[in-house]
Amino acid sequence: MELLKKAFLSLSIFFLVQNVATSNIGGTRQDILQNQYGGYENLLIAISKAVPEDLSLVEKLKKHFQKASEVLLMATENQVYFSSITILIPNTWKLNSSWEVATKETFNTARVLIGPANRAWGDVPYTLQPGLCGIEGDYIHLTPDFITTTTTTQANPVLEKNIVKEFAHLKWGLFDEGVSVTDIKTPVFYSVGGFYQPTRCGNQPFYGRTISTNTKIQCDYSTIKTSEYCQFVPSYTSGGVSLLYAHQLSTIKKFCSEEDHNRDAPNRQNRICQEKSAWEVMTSLPDFATDYFSVRNAAGIITSSGPTFNVIQEPGALEDGETETTTETTTTEEVEDETPATIGCPQDVVCMALDVSGSMATQNRVTQMSDAVATYIHEYLRNGTAVGIVTFNSAATTLASMTVITNDQVRSNLASVLPQTAGGGTSITSGLNTCIEVCFD
Ligand SMILES: *[C@@H]1O[C@H](CO)[C@@H](O)[C@H](O)[C@H]1NC(C)=O
Ligand SMILES: *[C@@H]1O[C@H](CO)[C@@H](O)[C@H](O)[C@H]1NC(C)=O
Repeated sequence: MELLKKAFLSLSIFFLVQNVATSNIGGTRQDILQNQYGGYENLLIAISKAVPEDLSLVEKLKKHFQKASEVLLMATENQVYFSSITILIPNTWKLNSSWEVATKETFNTARVLIGPANRAWGDVPYTLQPGLCGIEGDYIHLTPDFITTTTTTQANPVLEKNIVKEFAHLKWGLFDEGVSVTDIKTPVFYSVGGFYQPTRCGNQPFYGRTISTNTKIQCDYSTIKTSEYCQFVPSYTSGGVSLLYAHQLSTIKKFCSEEDHNRDAPNRQNRICQEKSAWEVMTSLPDFATDYFSVRNAAGIITSSGPTFNVIQEPGALEDGETETTTETTTTEEVEDETPATIGCPQDVVCMALDVSGSMATQNRVTQMSDAVATYIHEYLRNGTAVGIVTFNSAATTLASMTVITNDQVRSNLASVLPQTAGGGTSITSGLNTCIEVCFD
């Protein structure tokens, strides 16, 4: 029973609906719009209820996103920047008359989430990207500790470069060129003619140290090949790329373009984007279809003033001193959710309910969905994850009962059952119910 409860608490149902190709998966999150001068409008940042009240966090978010806007402009050859940003404060913080009450914005529709550290990745920022190359991700996750404790300077705005890197994942569907925390596939080193070099973008040399994650001392050259415990820590490059590889280095300010892109590196960007450079993917998107630099010049628009911020709060916040009339008790389940999974119990439990109803038959939707799910299975799920796959149209079908990922063959087997055809009605309830049954089988 205890095991069942734990499994249920970490259960996530992946529900992929129709417009996989157009925006965030399911289209459930707020669109990021672009104005006539290339400025991004409508970026919604939401602070989780789990974050304790801290007004300085709001000020820091403003400061860092303002600077990130400058970094973004520089990284894109003066094309795009942040024009307006809304920050949503949770209603667990006390009411403040200087904030308007949110009318439609919610935590679930935000594109940047400020919340507690992720169980697997800690304070490292990441972007949920279930889509393929050039497709928008769902959201960026940043922690209050990342915002308040990262050392960042005017000369080397590491934090702001990290925000721009995550925005590149989110808005333009780009992928990392080194080994990111979410990456289970990319080797740290790869061989060119028997010579091992770090997986990276940029064809300029990178200087750094090879460190064993076990012993914390320099790796033995012979172990570099297997690389399981050997990491490369870059410390300097004279090149300016790439923000998707080693954004923390002071010389790095840009994304790789056709000229300096490293097509041989076995990284996620090359795998998912068919070896295209970041800049090639970006310039194929509507975001870069207009030369906004010229448009702004012609109109005499100066962008250096940075984005405007609008701070709003969820309805239901209480004034200072006011107490709730009904006291909510914290349930034991919520407390238990914080405890790490027990050894022997799968770390993650995922059941995917995939829509194969009639509307998915048009515009290659079903194959695009399956491609995205295959990438998710191959690239993102850790060893030890239990996975189930269900499809639904007028009724639900179980394609794979709960299977624990132990090796690449299991991943391939799971990916091979993904649907390629669609037709019939849309009984979402059947899909969800069957997933719940599959999870508890
Ligand atoms: C309300 O918020 C502003 C910043 O948005 C802050 O300066 C002020 O101190 C807050 N007032 C209270 C009572 O917390
Ligand atoms: C998962 O396990 C397989 C088989 O033991 C192994 O080859 C693979 O490297 C592991 N993957 C990760 C990311 O640990």
